[in-house]
Amino acid sequence: MSLFHITRTLPEDATEAALRADVRHGLTGAFKTLPPKWFYDAHGSELFERITELPEYYPTRAEREILLDRSEEIAAVAGARTLVELGSGSSEKTRHLIAALTGLHTYVPVDVSESALTGAGHALIAERPTLRVHALIADFTAPLTLPDTPGPRLLAFLGGTIGNLLPDEREAFLASVRALLAPGDGLLLGTDLVKDEGVLVRAYDDAAGVTAAFNKNVLAVVNRELGADFEPDAFDHVALWDAENEWIEMRLRSRTAQTVKVPALDLAVDFAAGEDLRTEVSAKFRQEGVRAELAGAGMELTHWWTDRAERFALSLSVVR
Ligand code: SAH
Ligand code: TRP
Repeated sequence: MSLFHITRTLPEDATEAALRADVRHGLTGAFKTLPPKWFYDAHGSELFERITELPEYYPTRAEREILLDRSEEIAAVAGARTLVELGSGSSEKTRHLIAALTGLHTYVPVDVSESALTGAGHALIAERPTLRVHALIADFTAPLTLPDTPGPRLLAFLGGTIGNLLPDEREAFLASVRALLAPGDGLLLGTDLVKDEGVLVRAYDDAAGVTAAFNKNVLAVVNRELGADFEPDAFDHVALWDAENEWIEMRLRSRTAQTVKVPALDLAVDFAAGEDLRTEVSAKFRQEGVRAELAGAGMELTHWWTDRAERFALSLSVVR
């Protein structure tokens, strides 16, 4: 019996239907937007892994530093037998936590990227042959059913990915996280912190252009899946700091006036010269805000750790 299981929670045609709905809704409004989950096909997941190694992209290194320093402490407090991780990607940093969780029964990585889940699952089994890995191909913004595994549970949401949700989406998301957990279970949350604007903008607009390629990958996904004729070179990658909302916005700016056809939706989308398509926000946080949002969802923040340069925070909260 293999200890690696992978379950697709949404049939592929439902995923296709969701993409159609998001593209129609996002490209026909007054301000064009697309949700960030569509970046992550196999190529997008690969590009994201390259982002995590860029000199300008500090969040991965900062969060890894905290996990290396604190995993034993987290494991002692959480005592988890099941570790669920949302948006787990390569699970690369999570290994330190898994190693520290000596009583761990099952690891449940959840991601929309099947290629990331299979890569991570096989690497983890090779490293710890007795660990059960039950991967879920699922959208963490939709209702989720977890496998029936022993508690206590620790739910990890790393990488600052919570910042990719808009405030109202974040509130709904935290309520759904709370509903997956029982009293005494824990939430381990990675949040990038508010800091100097230049440092932030460079992290999302690197010199080598990897983030620009990642951002434009969403156009390739829409081209492939819906037969659209986006010309990636006809758009510029833009990263800007919104000081009021304290988030970075990733946009694709149309270089010229152009019309893009989306045959699967029978849609023609006009872009004015200089018009933006917002592809992602990446919110940055402060401790008071994180604590208040968690309290609003019925969780109490009990631990707050940062890297030595105080760029990124990992918090541990307990369900009341
Ligand atoms: N946790 C990893 C990866 C962060 S990148 C790290 O810290 O490095 C964000 C990850 O979330 C990607 O692997 C992406 O495929 C996944 N993801 C994005 N939106 C998602 C959604 N709505 N549901 C499930 N996974 C999602
Ligand atoms: N969760 C990551 C973040 O907000 C995702 C990410 C990093 C990202 N760089 C990106 C998403 C560039 C889109 C474009 O930091």
